[in-house]
Amino acid sequence: MLAFLWKSAGFYFFTILCCLLTYVSLADVPKIPPIAKYFNTKGRYEEVNKYLREDKLAINRSMLQPPSAQCREIYLLAIIRHGTRYPTTKSIKEIQQLYNIVLHNASGEESWLREIKSQWTMWYTEDMDGRLVQKGVSDLKNLAVRLSKLFPSVVSEEKLRGGSIQFITSSKHRCVNSTLSFKAGLTELWDIKDQEFDHEVNDSLMRYFDKCTRFVQEVDHNSSAVADVNKFKRGPEMRRVQEKIAGRLGVTYSLITHDMAEAAFYLCAYEFAIKEVNSPWCQLFDEEDAKVMEYASDLREFWKRGHGYDINRKSSCILFHDVFRRLNHAANANDNQLWPPVCVRSGQQVTETVTVQVGHADTLLPLLTLLGFFKDSEALTSTNYATQTQRSFRTSHMLPYAANLLLVLYDCGGGDLRLQPLLNEKPVTFPGLAEQQASMPLYQDVKGHYRELLQGCDFEAECQLFKPLPEP
Ligand SMILES: *[C@@H]1O[C@H](CO)[C@@H](O)[C@H](O)[C@H]1NC(C)=O
Ligand SMILES: *[C@@H]1O[C@H](CO)[C@@H](O)[C@H](O)[C@H]1NC(C)=O
Ligand SMILES: *[C@@H]1O[C@H](CO)[C@@H](O)[C@H](O)[C@H]1NC(C)=O
Ligand SMILES: *[C@@H]1O[C@H](CO)[C@@H](O)[C@H](O)[C@H]1NC(C)=O
Ligand SMILES: *[C@@H]1O[C@H](CO)[C@@H](O)[C@H](O)[C@H]1NC(C)=O
Repeated sequence: MLAFLWKSAGFYFFTILCCLLTYVSLADVPKIPPIAKYFNTKGRYEEVNKYLREDKLAINRSMLQPPSAQCREIYLLAIIRHGTRYPTTKSIKEIQQLYNIVLHNASGEESWLREIKSQWTMWYTEDMDGRLVQKGVSDLKNLAVRLSKLFPSVVSEEKLRGGSIQFITSSKHRCVNSTLSFKAGLTELWDIKDQEFDHEVNDSLMRYFDKCTRFVQEVDHNSSAVADVNKFKRGPEMRRVQEKIAGRLGVTYSLITHDMAEAAFYLCAYEFAIKEVNSPWCQLFDEEDAKVMEYASDLREFWKRGHGYDINRKSSCILFHDVFRRLNHAANANDNQLWPPVCVRSGQQVTETVTVQVGHADTLLPLLTLLGFFKDSEALTSTNYATQTQRSFRTSHMLPYAANLLLVLYDCGGGDLRLQPLLNEKPVTFPGLAEQQASMPLYQDVKGHYRELLQGCDFEAECQLFKPLPEP
């Protein structure tokens, strides 16, 4: 009897010990790095929509909240960023440089540092150059399936087979592959094997930022345009982060430049986004450090693509007009049944019900800026990090991989057309448009709201280097 008690006590003791150990090791290294919500444009879509961690096909239709039960969607325009990708060649070179420093100069004794030195291998190669990874394929496939569940009457097998779903992409390999993945998501969902669907490459539309001469010269290729970003990189907040990294590694401060800190930050982000691991590299940052890194990158986006310079948003005029041209067509086609035809396929006139446009973070940001989204009362500068902690301009929230702006046109009966914007599948409101009809305003009111842009915002005129004098 006593022996039995001893045995069972021993058994319980072991079980408890085991559980405790598992618990402790899990608690030590959570699967998701605590800094994952600060990864800017290198962040996972699942960190923005956390419910997708559990179920990657989850949607919530009740979120759409149309003003009446009659409303039915008649047209969807989706501007989508490509999915998860490898680092670019430039980043891979920096990662290699950082890795060399850690291998040759780091003297720290922490277990994560030993893990980097003894187990982690530099598996990124320069030829990966920003290509779409397998996770990026799933990002787009799953998004396609979710959109078919959210908007079943327009994203449907019948519409796809009938040629009413149009695909337009940037020529970059990661965008073309993302487009193929989106299509594969739908054809696999409906088991379509007897038909193929083409896409159109249009860089004037999806990479307009390269074609806007004034933007390229005054901002993109102009180091003075980001002078404030460089100031922040040399400022006290960033210096503190670099010192802490150097301290954790046990190397001299001079080895950890801003570029090396950034390489380490994004290495953690890439390891997480691509392989879904909480890499030992993530231990180089605490949350305070991550917020500073996030701000540095937001500051750059603010000046290069956001509200920093007026030409940033104006460079998207061509896409802006294209969007409203398509919305108008859909609205008219709805009024007049099938007139005018929007696209002609194999001799047949077909009305476009869905337009899927795949591009870059750089495609989405100037357009969101033009529409007035994420404008804080004060500009982001090198000196206001502390007062900008509550800013709305946060690329980590706005532009993860597969980020998307959805514009959904509804017919609510009796010529009552409404337009609902969604960002990353969540309803948003057009900034400045009256609150009471916020989530699903009348299409007419949206056009009224953007009247000035609709009447102007001429890409050619805005993007030429020397603006003609205004007419007297
Ligand atoms: C769906 O969205 C509605 C409205 O926003 C919300 O009340 C509800 O909790 C959501 N349901 C789920 C399962 O997330
Ligand atoms: C880092 O290590 C390399 C290779 O061992 C060595 O040449 C270099 O002097 C070291 N740098 C510093 C700052 O310690
Ligand atoms: C992307 O497309 C290229 C060329 O079509 C192909 O070789 C490559 O395997 C694709 N990558 C993925 C991840 O699908
Ligand atoms: C690309 O889109 C623009 C804007 O809608 C259009 O004017 C142009 O004709 C398109 N180019 C091609 C090659 O389809
Ligand atoms: C570069 O940017 C600065 C700051 O905005 C501006 O003053 C300057 O004119 C720009 N240079 C060119 C060549 O556009």
